[in-house]
Amino acid sequence: MTTVLVEKADRLATVTVNRPDKLNALNDAVMGDLERAFAGLAADPGVGAVIVTGAGPKAFVAGADIAELATMTGLSAVGVAARGQSLMQAVEGCGRPVIAAVNGYAFGGGLELALACHLRVFSRTAKVGLPEVGLGLIPGYGGTQRLPRVVGRGRALEMILTGEPVDAETALRFGLANRVVEPEAVLEEARRLAGAILGKGPVALRLALEAVLRGEEAGPGEGMKAERFLFGLAASSGDMKEGTGAFLERRKPAFRGL
Ligand code: COA
Repeated sequence: MTTVLVEKADRLATVTVNRPDKLNALNDAVMGDLERAFAGLAADPGVGAVIVTGAGPKAFVAGADIAELATMTGLSAVGVAARGQSLMQAVEGCGRPVIAAVNGYAFGGGLELALACHLRVFSRTAKVGLPEVGLGLIPGYGGTQRLPRVVGRGRALEMILTGEPVDAETALRFGLANRVVEPEAVLEEARRLAGAILGKGPVALRLALEAVLRGEEAGPGEGMKAERFLFGLAASSGDMKEGTGAFLERRKPAFRGL
């Protein structure tokens, strides 16, 4: 695996898209490596949180590979979008909090990858957007669905219809960036955020993500239903016994993810 690097340390996995000469654009090889990386992480009980970032100083991911897009037919494009959507679902649904460390440009599929992550730390120099209409395309890796949920319909439609990028400060104002830091501090800040999460109960984290995603998929009524059953599932976990017990005994919990 060379176009995607996966490092693991202290229950935190860092996934780096590693094609800096093409600004980490998502070609077939990168897509395949990301698919394998997330399948591996989802199956690894030793991983409690994930950071996704891009190699090099310029880009997080500059989008799907335009040279590959240019050769699509109508029919093959449906498959291209289905593959992209399914990768983004694998990221979003991997059962651990995923933090995008947006270290530079995130355009098209790059912003869609950042949107599939649950939290986003931006470099002050980052620029992000969905420029597909300028290529005669539309976003196809989930951007038309996830961007409006994160920033609201009006802002999302402005970004999708103009294709114009927004800077980090605007992204922060839109709620697209959870926080903005200096370029050299992006990974450190993402690790700090991951650190705050990694001390919490792994079962609860997984179920909380599941409740939010379920509500988005199925609407608020079904979401509420899912929430109470997932709440019940959390209450039946060893982590819940440990978390409440530790509070009452005035000690730090030692969660086991069971
Ligand atoms: N697909 C394929 N190659 C890409 C790419 C993409 N999405 N984005 C950048 N690259 C390649 C460039 O072709 C160039 O390759 P080369 O050196 O072999 O010519 C290399 O990455 C560096 O990019 P370059 O355009 O020279 O860098 P820049 O700093 O001048 O501009 C961007 C940076 C991000 C503004 C510009 O690369 C860009 O607009 N990229 C496309 C963004 C986009 O539309 N993404 C959505 C795709 S759906």
